Amino acid sequence: MLARARAKLADAGARLQLHQGDISQVTFDGSFDAVISAIAVHHVPPPDKPGLFQRLYDVLRPSGVLVLGDAFQAATPALSERYRDLSKAWLEREGIVETPVYTAYRSRNSQPSGGSSTHLQAYLQWMEEAGFHNVDCVWKYLSRAVVYGERPQSQ
Ligand SMILES: C[S@@+](CC[C@H](N)C(=O)[O-])C[C@H]1O[C@@H](n2cnc3c(N)ncnc32)[C@H](O)[C@@H]1O
Repeated sequence: MLARARAKLADAGARLQLHQGDISQVTFDGSFDAVISAIAVHHVPPPDKPGLFQRLYDVLRPSGVLVLGDAFQAATPALSERYRDLSKAWLEREGIVETPVYTAYRSRNSQPSGGSSTHLQAYLQWMEEAGFHNVDCVWKYLSRAVVYGERPQSQ
C-alpha cells in the first residue's frame, strides 16, 4: 500500500513523507494542520482508541482539524441487521459480486474488523474528552460515517 501511495503521490516530491507503524501505539513527530484517516481506526483495539484520539489532538496545531472516515457498529442489533440487508441490496443493484474470500470473512465477523469496531457515539465522546471542539458526524451512510473535530485556537 505504501508503494502504491508513493507512486500515486510522486509529484509531491520532498513534501511527502511516508511512515510505517501501528497507529494504536505509534507517536507522531512534529505538529500538523490536519489529520485525515479512511477506514483504518476501527482496527485499533477499543481500549487503545481513547489514547489514539488524545495523541492525534496533541499533534494538531491550534485550529488544526481531524477528519476521520470509518466503519462503525450500528447503534442496535436491529439496525445492524437492516444495514447488512441494505448493503447487500445495494451490491446487487450495482452488480458487484462478493468474492468467496470476502463472503467467508463476513460470515465469521458480524461487525467490521472482526469486532474491534465501536459505536459512532463512542468516537464523538472520545474526541470531546481529548479536547476537540465542534465535534460532529458530518456524513453517514449505513455503518460508514465521517467524524470531524477541531483543536481550539487558544489551547
Ligand atoms: C480498509 S483499509 C483502508 C486503507 C486506506 N486508508 C483506504 O482508504 O484505501 C485499512 C487499512 O488499515 C491498516 N491498518 C489496520 N490496523 C492498523 C494499525 N494498527 N496501524 C496502522 N494501520 C493499520 C491496514 O493495513 C489497511 O491498510
